[in-house]
Amino acid sequence: MAILVTGAAGFIGSNLVRHLLERWPDRRIVGYDLLTYAGHLSNLADVMDHPRHTFVRGDVADRESVAKVFAEHDIDGVMHLAAESHVDRSIVDPMAFVRTNVVGTTVLLQEAARAWEGREGVRFHHVSTDEVFGALGAEGRFDEHTAYGPNSPYSASKAASDHFVRAWHETYGLPVVVTNCTNNYGPYQFPEKLIPVVVTRALAGERVPVYGRGENVRDWLYVGDHCDALALVFEEGATGETYCIGGDAEATNLDLVGMVLDAVDGARGAAVGTSRELIEFVTDRPGHDFRYAMDIAKIRAELGWEPSVGLAEGLARTVDWYLSHREWMEEVQGDQHREFTDSWYGKR
Ligand SMILES: NC(=O)c1ccc[n+]([C@@H]2O[C@H](COP(=O)([O-])OP(=O)(O)OC[C@H]3O[C@@H](n4cnc5c(N)ncnc54)[C@H](O)[C@@H]3O)[C@@H](O)[C@H]2O)c1
Repeated sequence: MAILVTGAAGFIGSNLVRHLLERWPDRRIVGYDLLTYAGHLSNLADVMDHPRHTFVRGDVADRESVAKVFAEHDIDGVMHLAAESHVDRSIVDPMAFVRTNVVGTTVLLQEAARAWEGREGVRFHHVSTDEVFGALGAEGRFDEHTAYGPNSPYSASKAASDHFVRAWHETYGLPVVVTNCTNNYGPYQFPEKLIPVVVTRALAGERVPVYGRGENVRDWLYVGDHCDALALVFEEGATGETYCIGGDAEATNLDLVGMVLDAVDGARGAAVGTSRELIEFVTDRPGHDFRYAMDIAKIRAELGWEPSVGLAEGLARTVDWYLSHREWMEEVQGDQHREFTDSWYGKR
């Protein structure tokens, strides 16, 4: 069996490729990625020469390139992660999100359906987010029956892609499965997302921006646990079904940032609490969803999955990883990234 992993050079994709190569000793993995500002081959350095791994540079929205990968590599499974993934960027450049997340997903669906006509044993797994459900108040959790209510251009584009996946199942009979997951963290996360932003800025002694008063709540999931859930759903999830995945680990942004800064202090041998002085409250993100939390009863009951890494342990592992991969941090942060961050936080 050959599995196409799109977005393979990104944060979750690169962790997933590594996980699958170990977990599935008789399957080939074909990584497919455009290598945008967020995708880096250094994320895959240790598996680039693996005998069952092939990397192809390509755009999910480019029909010819996608068709060629299906034909040349005899793909019989897709795990689709390629996306524009940063909410702040979606506020500044929404069309890039429509192109990759909506058009790209649809191109992939169309080419999978074409390549797999009359074929058994194939599967299209779409990896999506809890953000499609909108915002929660202080109580309650999202589950597979929650109505869609996306609020940012990013979440609207992911919601649209979820709907196209569903439509390809209902209309053309494509065997699909969808997962919606909470905030991930761990090694190889690009330093534009909250946790690596905090680590990189604390190490450089720069102010650590926190939106509003830091009261927004997220449910945090260690990326290794997410990869385990993805592989399980791909193998055992029921066709046409959605599974919600979460870490059962809610924290306000302010508490989380404090924990990360304390872990950085601890790892550097500084007095714990020193780096908290770097926190600076900045003007809130427009349309900032107040709270996300996931009810994971379905995946727990039907597939026996649960998160195994708690928040304190996961953060300690993550901070250690960033501290021992400083060249990686330097290498991946190109000019385009610096320009965006300077202008985004500069205005706040
Ligand atoms: N990170 C999270 O917390 C989280 C949570 C839930 C769901 N997700 C979903 O998981 C997936 C992966 O997220 P991530 O955090 O690893 O994102 P990421 O930004 O780190 O990686 C995305 C990858 O997609 C590639 N890509 C972008 N446009 C492309 C295109 N047109 N063609 C081919 N490749 C392209 C990029 O080069 C990059 O390597 C996304 O679909 C995201 O919506 C992420």
